[in-house]
Amino acid sequence: MNAVSSPAPASEVGTFKIGGDVTVHRLGFGAMRITGRGIWGAPADPAECLRTLRRLPELGIDFIDTADSYGPNISEHLIREALHPYKNILVATKGGLVRLGPDEWRPLGRPEYLRQQVLMSLRFLDLEQIGLWQLHRIDPAVARDEQFGAIKSMLDDGLIRHAGLSEVSVEEIKAAQKVFPVATVQNRFNLVDRKSEAVLDYCQSQDIGFIPWFPLAAGDLAKPGGLLDKVAATHTASAGQIALAWMLKRSPVMLPIPGTSRVSHLEQNAAAVDIILTDQEFNDLDRAGRALSKPA
Ligand SMILES: NC(=O)c1ccc[n+]([C@@H]2O[C@H](COP(=O)([O-])OP(=O)(O)OC[C@H]3O[C@@H](n4cnc5c(N)ncnc54)[C@H](OP(=O)(O)O)[C@@H]3O)[C@@H](O)[C@H]2O)c1
Repeated sequence: MNAVSSPAPASEVGTFKIGGDVTVHRLGFGAMRITGRGIWGAPADPAECLRTLRRLPELGIDFIDTADSYGPNISEHLIREALHPYKNILVATKGGLVRLGPDEWRPLGRPEYLRQQVLMSLRFLDLEQIGLWQLHRIDPAVARDEQFGAIKSMLDDGLIRHAGLSEVSVEEIKAAQKVFPVATVQNRFNLVDRKSEAVLDYCQSQDIGFIPWFPLAAGDLAKPGGLLDKVAATHTASAGQIALAWMLKRSPVMLPIPGTSRVSHLEQNAAAVDIILTDQEFNDLDRAGRALSKPA
């Protein structure tokens, strides 16, 4: 497979200020995949996961996304083992989902539970303050203002510096903004999954960081043989690199966090920042991806 392989510094696509004051390079790392099957338990190859994490700063990647529920706690534990004390790295974590087994996730938004989970993440990551904490899901069984109020109190108490939301609508972001400053929104989004376009546009208008999860469609967009091939060939790049380059060009508030458990894939993903698409390439991909996306 063709791929831009020189590990270009993540700095080349510029930076974003989370919450207006925490500067990160725009291509981050998703740490969900450094766990076992079903995002449950230890990964198959913990040594390779540690090598992958330790490669991040060398590639200029200074933004890591994790969650208490990844493992649970396995991802946070490995991040601490590999990178503590996180010199110039923002480790953003999430809470608000409980795990009942492999691939089973359930929202739990009771304020006391959210606070407990922040305290646990502080302990697991060995931090005095979490730079960015995100509510993994709004729990439909708990009044949302109670959940937003819990976040506000954790901001006020300094347990977390900035706060964000995940899988939310524009209406929900606006409701949360009445209670606390929303620094980031993390919704599923990629070239062929565009249901969150309106949320992305709202985030851009508010200078809220938009963190698209599933940026490679769990690896499907990294496979050759699809709509990315022609542009990939022009740039002597891989399909996955073009998918990431498209996202980075889509919006200045876009902070993709491709996830992997392997150094080789990390290096390939990091090198996507080196690829600058022309407006024509961007627009052609945009149209083709939109046509494949299921309606909201
Ligand atoms: N907020 C939420 O609800 C939510 C939900 C899901 C995920 N997330 C976050 O978003 C991050 C990214 O999402 P994701 O992991 O689901 O999807 P993704 O980044 O689109 O895809 C990750 C998958 O693609 C494979 N992959 C990565 N780079 C590759 C490459 N260069 N070539 C071939 N395959 C490659 C990985 O396998 P290998 O390990 O073999 O490389 C992994 O299985 C997660 O790590 C997590 O931090 C958030």
